[in-house]
Amino acid sequence: MEIVICPKSETAEWLTAKLISDRMKSKPDITLGLATGRTMEHVYAKLIAEKDDFSRVKTFNLDEYIGLDREHPQSYWRYMIEKLFAHVNIDLSNVHVPDGCAEDVKEASKQYELAIKNAGGIDVQLLGIGRTGHIGFNEPQSSFASRTRDKVLTQTTREQNKSMFEGDLDAVPERAITMGVGTILEARELILLATGKEKAKIIAQALEGPISSMVSASAVQIHPLCKIILDEDAASELTQADYHRRSFAIDPEWDAYRDLVMKS
Ligand code: GLP
Repeated sequence: MEIVICPKSETAEWLTAKLISDRMKSKPDITLGLATGRTMEHVYAKLIAEKDDFSRVKTFNLDEYIGLDREHPQSYWRYMIEKLFAHVNIDLSNVHVPDGCAEDVKEASKQYELAIKNAGGIDVQLLGIGRTGHIGFNEPQSSFASRTRDKVLTQTTREQNKSMFEGDLDAVPERAITMGVGTILEARELILLATGKEKAKIIAQALEGPISSMVSASAVQIHPLCKIILDEDAASELTQADYHRRSFAIDPEWDAYRDLVMKS
């Protein structure tokens, strides 16, 4: 686990976009795992500005609300089209978002897993983190071995996401279809981005607390290639922050990014 603490949220978003862009340059037919949420909007805006070639890129989104069809303004399909896909040369037949309106959710989940497998697995999985410590919509006590399936959302998550539904809690779906923690852990590389003070406590629990299904994001601790990109606010409750700052200043892996991050 490598933790990078950026001076500002904008730098953290830029670094995340840059890492993805660089992975795309070295593997033009890369399979990306994508995330949604307010944090990622800024990443996608910066990724669009990189003007990369998406023509051979395949994508798999983490999750979708159950009951919202693709055209629903708050569906994650629509989010992805608006925030990223409409602005790049991606072939929409290479795009995968779980089907929130599938008649048979179990079967749709099985097919989603199969599609990931047939694509050769996910090269890089982008992750945000919810207030409950969820990655995707893996709410507390999701098994670390879980696969794509439906999940009931906690009230905390529904409250957190209601701003995207014009503040109307009743409009926020009760359930979602999400990749499992086990599915996520199989990606070859994970990049988790968190910004802002409201993420500080859960980030400290996920990264420095015990590995526990009570905090799904703590599963990243057992992934062999995982980068955590934070701003100062999100990192503010980490006890090991100074070590991570020093490591970023010295580790040759960050040579190409260091100046831009530090000068921002
Ligand atoms: C939703 C998504 C998560 C995302 C989280 C964080 O709940 N299912 O994948 O990480 O939002 O959202 P935000 O970036 O808006 O804080």
